[in-house]
Amino acid sequence: MKDRILVTGGTGYIGSHTVVELQQAGYEVVIVDNLSNSSADVVDNIEAVSGIRPAFEKLDCLDFAGLDGVFAKYPGIKAIIHFAASKAVGESVQKPLLYYRNNIVSLINLLELMPKYHVQGIVFSSSCTVYGQPDKLPVTEEAPIKKAESPYGNTKQINEEIIRDTVASGAPISAILLRYFNPIGAHPSALLGELPNGVPQNLVPYIVQTAIGIREKLSIFGNDYHTPDGTCIRDYINVVDLAKAHVVAISRILEQKQKEKVEVFNIGTGHGLSVLQLVHAFEKATGVKLNYQMAPRRAGDIEQVWADPTLANQKLGWKAETSIEDTLLSAWKWQLRLREKGIQ
Ligand code: UFG
Repeated sequence: MKDRILVTGGTGYIGSHTVVELQQAGYEVVIVDNLSNSSADVVDNIEAVSGIRPAFEKLDCLDFAGLDGVFAKYPGIKAIIHFAASKAVGESVQKPLLYYRNNIVSLINLLELMPKYHVQGIVFSSSCTVYGQPDKLPVTEEAPIKKAESPYGNTKQINEEIIRDTVASGAPISAILLRYFNPIGAHPSALLGELPNGVPQNLVPYIVQTAIGIREKLSIFGNDYHTPDGTCIRDYINVVDLAKAHVVAISRILEQKQKEKVEVFNIGTGHGLSVLQLVHAFEKATGVKLNYQMAPRRAGDIEQVWADPTLANQKLGWKAETSIEDTLLSAWKWQLRLREKGIQ
């Protein structure tokens, strides 16, 4: 029998790509998603890519009784990947309580239910945001956690602590915390990708919408940083590569290969790219000229961060593989498909 995995937020951007990779690796997936930032069509698209329709329950992870019902309906769930969360940094500053409630109570509900249903472990979506501006680059998992810049970032830190405290209390579960750097791109089939709500806040969605003419011009936020070309540096990780990291994390939990009951891994490429370098890579990969201008710095931005992914490379046996050009091309093909379907 296939091992059954619960994926919360499984119709979202990273979640949907991960569901496909899990299915292709032979797992059976149950998705829970409240569709607050995604649509039910994603389930059809997952099926179109993998040939397998995942079980889908429209449910908010804040609904404890509802979640209990999902575990009862799908017996034998072995592990959870918990993506479901609110993720807009700016919105979290405006609506902190919404973010604290959504992101923290959802995790608590899952952790409370895991022992009851003998769920072995949880993979948690964390973020390099926990490092703030690191003192040393590339940043390793040993780097100190810095005070969060936003309620969103704080929920990631608090959730990491909640998981550690729960495991330390003797709960019969284990956990892998994956600290993502900047996920970008789309599935090569162009059937799955990121669907931003309204004006995109993130760089690549803004670039592709500018390239296709939905936005007039990209504003590059700040060119007076202490970096070679003055623009901020990030570690852009292909979303399918990122999805694969979850599959190896799940097998590590199920095969009980963990050295400690809570492990943490940076999931990045190990290479930093500036905003300008990314724009030029997009132009090169797609042949599309991008309209952009320099603009003032954006409040709260970190100057530069990129991962030391050695631990994930060695312990998980995972490595980012896709080139930045292929990744940006996949984002562009996804945008072209959205246009074809009249979505955006
Ligand atoms: N940027 C622009 N113009 C834009 C959008 C972004 O110049 O229109 C710049 C930003 O200033 C930044 C870089 O592009 O220098 C990347 O910005 P993103 O918003 O794409 O990504 P961030 O690094 O700011 O944030 C991402 C996630 C957050 C997460 C954070 C740290 O969106 O959820 O990484 O992990 F918290």
